[in-house]
Order: sequence, then C-alpha cells, then structure tokens
Amino acid sequence: MPPKELSYRASLIGPSGIRRLFDLAQRSSGVINFGIGEPDLETPKHIRESGKRAIDLGYTHYTPNAGFPSLREAIAEKLREENNIDVTSCNVMVTVGASMGLLLSILAIVEPGDEVVISDPCFVIYEPLIHIAGGKPVKVPLMEEDDFRMLPENVKECVTPKTKCIIVNSPHNPTGAVMEYGDIRGIAEIAMDEGIYVISDEVYEKLVYDGAKHYSIASIAGMEELAITVNAFSKTFAMCGWRIGYVAASKKLIDEMVKLQQYTAVHAPSVSQVAALEGLKSPESKVFVEEMVKEYDARRRLMVEMLNNVHGFKVKLPKGAFYVFANIKELGMRSENLAELILKDAGVVTVPGSAFGQNGEGYLRFCYATSRENIKQGIERLKNAIDKLKVK
Ligand SMILES: Cc1ncc(COP(=O)(O)O)c(C=O)c1O
Repeated sequence: MPPKELSYRASLIGPSGIRRLFDLAQRSSGVINFGIGEPDLETPKHIRESGKRAIDLGYTHYTPNAGFPSLREAIAEKLREENNIDVTSCNVMVTVGASMGLLLSILAIVEPGDEVVISDPCFVIYEPLIHIAGGKPVKVPLMEEDDFRMLPENVKECVTPKTKCIIVNSPHNPTGAVMEYGDIRGIAEIAMDEGIYVISDEVYEKLVYDGAKHYSIASIAGMEELAITVNAFSKTFAMCGWRIGYVAASKKLIDEMVKLQQYTAVHAPSVSQVAALEGLKSPESKVFVEEMVKEYDARRRLMVEMLNNVHGFKVKLPKGAFYVFANIKELGMRSENLAELILKDAGVVTVPGSAFGQNGEGYLRFCYATSRENIKQGIERLKNAIDKLKVK
C-alpha cells in the first residue's frame, strides 16, 4: 500500500515568499541583506551575562509551564506601568517568542469555520496559523493613502456573524505603520459590540519615531476579557534567537493557553527566562532601548532619503518598526520579479510586497536594522541597477 495522505491542514500552508529569496541569496557572495526582519545589534551585555550565569547556577531544568513566577510578575508590572493594562501575574504567561504566543492565542479561541480578520499586507505567519486552527482569514486591505493604518470602518465591513477574532499589529510589519488612538479605540468598540476577541501583536512597541505613540488595545476599559496582548523580547532587547515572549489576557484565556503550551512547547527556555527578567529589571536596558531607537531613526531617515532618489521608487517616512514599504508601481514590474532582479544585478536582498498578501503587490519591503554603511552601499548598488534598467 502507498503511504496514506498527509494532513490537509499542512497542505493549506504555502512556502514563505521570504525564504525563497533568502535561499537564492545564500548562493551568492557579498550580498547586502535588507530582507531579514531582525535587529543587527547584539543582545545587551548585561542580559547575555545573566544568561551565562543562569547556566552555571543550574537553570537547566524544566520550569513551570506558564514561566517562572518572578518573570510573570515582572511582565505584569511592565504592562501596568508602560502599557496601562490592568493585569497581575495570573493574567500573564511566558511563551516561546511572540510566534508561539500567537499560535496559542489562535488555538485557544478559533474553531474550524471561524473567521479571523487580518490586515493585507500583514506579517507572514498570521494566515498559516489561522489555517492550522481551521479558521478562515478575512483580509482588510491597508491603503498607502491611509498611511497603511488599519481603519475601524474597513474592519467593520469585514465583520460577519462568523468573526471570532481580529488581529491588530502596531507598529506594523511590513509597512511600519503606527495606528492612532482613534483607530485602536474604534476597533475596540467593534470588538465590544460583537463580543469579538482582539489579538494585539505589539512586538515593535518600542520602535516608534517622530513623536508617534504606541497604544495597547487591552488598556481600553471593557476589553479585559476580549484583548490578548502578544509581545516578545526579540526586537526590544535584540533577543530573537533566545525564543522568549509572552501573552497577557483574562485568567480564563491564560489557563487554556497554558494547557496548550504544556502539551506542545512545554515552556519557554529556562535560561532565556532568566535573561529576560534581567532585561526587564535592569536600568541598563532602558539606556540600550533609547540608543537603539535613536540609531534606527537615523537609519530610517537615511534609507528613505536614498530610496526616494532611485528612479521609480516612492517612499513615505514610516512611523514605526524597522521597515520601509517602498512603492514601486511606476516601474510596472511585479514585486517578486523586481526583488529577484535587484538580487541578481545589485546583490541586494529585499522582500516582495506580495509575500505579505495580495494587497502588498506594487511594493518592496526593506529592513533598515542593518549598518548605515550597508544602507549606503546597498541603496547605491540598487540605484545603479535600476538606472541600467532605465537605459535598456
Ligand atoms: C509583527 C511580528 N510579530 C511577531 C514576530 C515574531 O516574533 P518572535 O521572534 O518573538 O517569535 C515578528 C517577527 O518578525 C513580527 O514581525
């Protein structure tokens, strides 16, 4: 007998449009990478040292499924003080990065056939996670003329009796958009009217510029049972590889999610939990974040200025995260073909907007979490490649 069919669930998930370009890039040398959405900075020294000490102190065993109580307490305190969310440690669980927090949140609320409203374009894992849960993604197009913000009136149009959840992400990957208070408030009102959950992905909360402010939807009165705040140490403290994040929600939801974690990831890595606690508690972390934001801000301006000098590229200054979503419509090429051409002719990796959803077509995503020197060289090389294209 031939082997039986593999799961339909897995077949619904396509390969990542980002990976394909990275695989191509790996085959060439001297490539400048604006593709990967990861800080180029090292994890701050005091956090690294704390991780090393944790190993020697014997933090090498299983931990509670929800994470060390001291870390949950520190996260709850952070959420109260910085995000104005009224929580205690029983509303918090530690997860394997924000990614696992997103999966657990979706698994805890979405049933087969339920609809989940997401933005188009959006971070690449939302759609596959919804499919894993048997749900149906429903997409709200983000428009450049709205600065790519997810607007309540557009969300409302997508809500049906089957809507179980809305995912908001601000600051936003891939556009760098930051939602305004009115946007967040409007979406909270829709959620409260309909009893819909809102998963709020806040991993870029610290990366806001030009006086923009980050608002947590969970801070709005009436959202206590509906909001699920997902965050991580990955971007804030340059800790992507430590795989450490957290979720805050009602106790009822957290208890369900802890069970789901218990039988899957079991818990977040013990050493990373100790290091994350150091990150939250140490005053040095604040200095690190301030300097990081200042540096990203300078890189953001440099990249936008240089890109606007490239023929056919139109870029507005994004207010958050570390991405620029460049409009390339004037060039009349599909974003995937242009990204491939830029990689081959300029040795520069970008991500086609179409990798983030149909509505991302006509754009290329650039990540500026790389050195100013790389930005100068990379965009110069890109400009030369596009100029040659113009001559042909
Ligand atoms: C919007 C958004 N959410 C979540 C994540 C995943 O974070 P983590 O590495 O902590 O799983 C990313 C990573 O790029 C992201 O861009």
